[in-house]
Amino acid sequence: MWQRFTDHAKRVIFSAQEEAGKFGDNNVSIEHVLLGLTRDRGCGAAQALISMGVDLKELRADLEQNTARGSGKLGGDMQLTPRAKRAIDYAYEEASDLQADKLCSEHLLLGVIRQKEGLAARTLAKFGVDLDAARQAVREQQSGKLFDGVVFKSEERPEAAVELRGKSLLDIAQLSRAEIDVIFDMTRKLKDGVIPPSRQRRILAGKTLAMIFEKPSLRTRVSFETGIFQLGGHGIYLGPNDIALGKRESVADVARTIGRMCDIVMARVFEHEKVTGLAEYAGVPVINALSDLEHPCQALADFYTIIEHKGKLEGLKLAFIGDGNNVAHSLMLLAAKVGMNFAIGCPKDYEPDENVTAKAREFAKETGATIEITNDPIEAVKGADVVYTDVWASMGQEAEAEERAKTFADFQVNSDLMSHAKPDAIFEHCLPAHRGSEVTDEVIDSKQSVVFDEAENRLHAQKAVMVLLAG
Ligand code: CP
Ligand code: NVA
Repeated sequence: MWQRFTDHAKRVIFSAQEEAGKFGDNNVSIEHVLLGLTRDRGCGAAQALISMGVDLKELRADLEQNTARGSGKLGGDMQLTPRAKRAIDYAYEEASDLQADKLCSEHLLLGVIRQKEGLAARTLAKFGVDLDAARQAVREQQSGKLFDGVVFKSEERPEAAVELRGKSLLDIAQLSRAEIDVIFDMTRKLKDGVIPPSRQRRILAGKTLAMIFEKPSLRTRVSFETGIFQLGGHGIYLGPNDIALGKRESVADVARTIGRMCDIVMARVFEHEKVTGLAEYAGVPVINALSDLEHPCQALADFYTIIEHKGKLEGLKLAFIGDGNNVAHSLMLLAAKVGMNFAIGCPKDYEPDENVTAKAREFAKETGATIEITNDPIEAVKGADVVYTDVWASMGQEAEAEERAKTFADFQVNSDLMSHAKPDAIFEHCLPAHRGSEVTDEVIDSKQSVVFDEAENRLHAQKAVMVLLAG
C-alpha cells in the first residue's frame, strides 16, 4: 500500500494512528484520518482545506468533540476500519484521475470526502466542503505547485514569466527581451524533456483551448491541438464555417461566450483587429495564430530553430526574400528585439508595412540591430546566416497570385541566390511552400534547409507560450 504514498501522505497515516491512540482506539477510522490530515498546516490537504475557507482549528475541535472513544485497550496492530480502507481506495482513484504519479495527502482528503456517510462526512459538510469544490481546490493547488516547483525548479519564478501569466500574445512588438528568453527557455525544457511528459500532462490539465480558424492550416492546427493535449488539456477546432467570426456573430460576443467556457483562445484571422478584439473581450489569454499583420508563433519557432543550429541569435544576419507580409513583419520585429540584423529583398511596392518597420527600427536602436529594406535580392542575401522566404501570395490573396508570380519572378530562392549568403547559411520557410516558385526543390531539399525543424518547433514553442500564458 505504501509504495506510491508521498512522505506527507505516509505521515498523515502515522498521525491518524496517533489520533486513534489518543482516543484509546485500536482501529484507525476515517475520522482519525481526517484528524491526521488537518494536523500539519503545511501538508497539501490542509492547504486545500484552507483555500476553501475552512478554519482547521475549528474543524478539528468539532471532530474531536464528537469522535467516539475506543475501548482503551491498546497494543497489537492498528487496523484501518473498512471505511478508512475505502477512503484510501478512493484516494488512489482520485490520484489517477488527476494523472498524479504519487498518492499525496490531497488525494487522501478527496478519498475521505468521497465517503458520504458518518461523522467525518457530516463534519466536512458542516464546514462547507463538498467534493467538487475540493477537487477544484486540489487541481488548482497541484497546477500551482507544479508551476512553481517543477517548471521553474525551486528558484523564484522569473519576473518575465510572472509578467506573461494571464496575458495575450498578439504580436512580437509586445514582448520584452526577458519574455522572449523565458519563452525560449520553456521551449527547451518542454522539447528536451527537462519537464518530463508525465509532468507536462498536468500543467494545463482540465483546461480547454478554443481554436478559431478563418483560414486553412496544417502546422498551426496540428501543433496547437497536439500541444494542448500533451499539456493535459483539450482543444476545440472551430473552422471557418463553424462560427463565422464577425458575420454570424460579432467578434466581441464570440469572445465573451468562449471566455466563459474556455481557458485559452488561439485565432487565425484575416484582419488583425479581429484577434485584438477577441483579446479585448475574452477575459482569457488569446494567441495570434496568424493575422494579416503578424505570425508571432511562427517567428518564435523559427528563431528557436536558429538557436538550435547557430547557438545564438545576436549578431547574426537574417535575409527575408519575397513579400513584406505577416511572416516578414514578425521576423523583422523579433530580429530587432534580439539584436539580429535583418534585411528584406522584395519587389518595389511590396515592402513591409511602414508602421511595423518604424517599430522595428525603434527596437533595433536599443539592441544595435540593423534593418535593411532593398529591392535587390542579392544585396539582401549577402553575408546572411539565415535565408528565409514565404509564399508570394498569402492566404486571401489568391486572386493576385498570377500577377504576383510575374512581379516576384526575380525573387526566387535558388542555389544561385544561396551562393551569396554565408557558406554555412541555413534556409528557412514557414511552409506551406510553393516549390518552383519562391523556392526551388534544390534549396528546400538541401542540407542547408531546416524547414521541418521549424515545423516541429511550432509545437514546442507554442506549448511554451500556452504554459506561460495559462499555466
Ligand atoms: N506555417 C504555418 O502557419 O503553417 P499552416 O498554415 O499550415 O498552419
Ligand atoms: N504569409 C502566409 C503564411 C502562411 C503560413 C500567409 O499568410 O498565407
